[in-house]
Formats: sequence, structure tokens, C-alpha cells
Amino acid sequence: MQKTILITGSTDGIGLETAKMLITQGHHVLLHGRNPAKLAEAEKTLSALAQGELIESYIADLSSMADVDVLTKAVAEKHASLDVLINNAGVFKTPSPITQDGLDVRFAVNTLAPFLLTQKLMPLLGASSRVVNLSSAAQAPVDLEALAGRAKLPDDFDAYAQSKLALTIWSRNLALSLKRKTGSESNSF
Ligand SMILES: NC(=O)c1ccc[n+]([C@@H]2O[C@H](COP(=O)([O-])OP(=O)(O)OC[C@H]3O[C@@H](n4cnc5c(N)ncnc54)[C@H](OP(=O)(O)O)[C@@H]3O)[C@@H](O)[C@H]2O)c1
Repeated sequence: MQKTILITGSTDGIGLETAKMLITQGHHVLLHGRNPAKLAEAEKTLSALAQGELIESYIADLSSMADVDVLTKAVAEKHASLDVLINNAGVFKTPSPITQDGLDVRFAVNTLAPFLLTQKLMPLLGASSRVVNLSSAAQAPVDLEALAGRAKLPDDFDAYAQSKLALTIWSRNLALSLKRKTGSESNSF
């Protein structure tokens, strides 16, 4: 059965490879990237694998929560439902680690953007939909002051590892809260 699948960060790495596989299987894949040229290149490459109109592209810089909002609205304008949301986009190291909102970019892109995107797209997700969050084996206790943008983390690895544990904690919490709400295992994310 064809599924509609949004993959964040599908211009490179795991996201791009996942998009290739799913498009080859005939799914309707919604690509996402922050760099228009890279996104256009990915769409061109992937279109060669598609049979028909199976690909759409969306631009958003996930270090900006305003952009997350724009992405959500753009997806919701075209789709009443989503079968799978893959929160894949992630960042480890960057020359500008503080976002315009004063957040560490790892917390913004790796933790807060997936949280916000999922919450805002929840009306499109049904009982059989799935959310896949790309975490990491790198995990470190979360400094809540840094998560809130009130303290800076000087170490790239620590910031990445903290952002990924925060993502893992929230993923578990989301799965449990949806299970409680529906009483169904089918909502275990
Ligand atoms: N590779 C590994 O060994 C590994 C291990 C554990 C977990 N992971 C996790 O798996 C996911 C994918 O990893 P990967 O190795 O495939 O990474 P990657 O090759 O660096 O690709 C990351 C993707 O995220 C996008 N991205 C980064 N910052 C963004 C932003 N501010 N706004 C929007 N998109 C943004 C990138 O866009 P651009 O192309 O424009 O940069 C790219 O499409 C990440 O969440 C990573 O933490 C990876």
C-alpha cells in the first residue's frame, strides 16, 4: 500500500538514502531541506527513480521555530493526512552554534524542531501513523538551562549528546502518552 511519508533532512546522508528506498518502493515521499539548490538536486535525482508524481519538496531551516511553523502549514495545506513522519534532520557541529532565537543549534534542530513539527502535524497523524525519530547512541544528561537557551554549552559533542537524549526522552514520553490516550499498542511510536 502506498504511504505518504515526510522525511526531514532528506537532502543528504541517511535521509536521502531513506527517500531513495521509499520512492523506489512506490511511496509518496515529501522531501525536506534547508538549502534550495541541494533540495532541487535531490528532487532531480529522486525523480529519476519515481514512477509518476510521487515527490514533493519543502524548504525550512529547522534551527528556526518560525520556519518549523511555515513547514507545518505548507504540508497541512496539501495533505489531510500523513502515514509516516521521519524526524531525521540533525546537526552535530556548526561554525554558528547559537540560533537567532538564542538556542544551541543542536537543541533547536535535533530536539525542539522534531517536537514542534510532530505536535503541529499531530492532526494529520491517525491511529496507524508512525513517527520515527533519529536519535543516537551518543547520550548525555540534559542541562535544562542550555535547552532553554539560558546557558551555553562549550563542547560540540556534549551539546549533540544532550540534544539526542532529550529527543529520546520525549519520544518515549510521546509513545506512552499516546498509548494512554488510545489504550492501543498501535500508537506506540
Ligand atoms: N550518520 C551517523 O552515523 C548517525 C549516527 C547516529 C545518529 N545519526 C542521526 O541520523 C540523522 C541523519 O544523520 P546523517 O549522518 O545522515 O546526517 P547528514 O548527512 O549530515 O544529513 C543531515 C540532514 O539534516 C539536514 N539539516 C541539518 N541542519 C538542518 C537545519 N538547520 N534545517 C534543516 N535541515 C537541516 C541536512 O541539510 P543540509 O544538507 O543542508 O546540511 C541534511 O539533509 C541525524 O539526526 C543524526 O544525528 C546519524
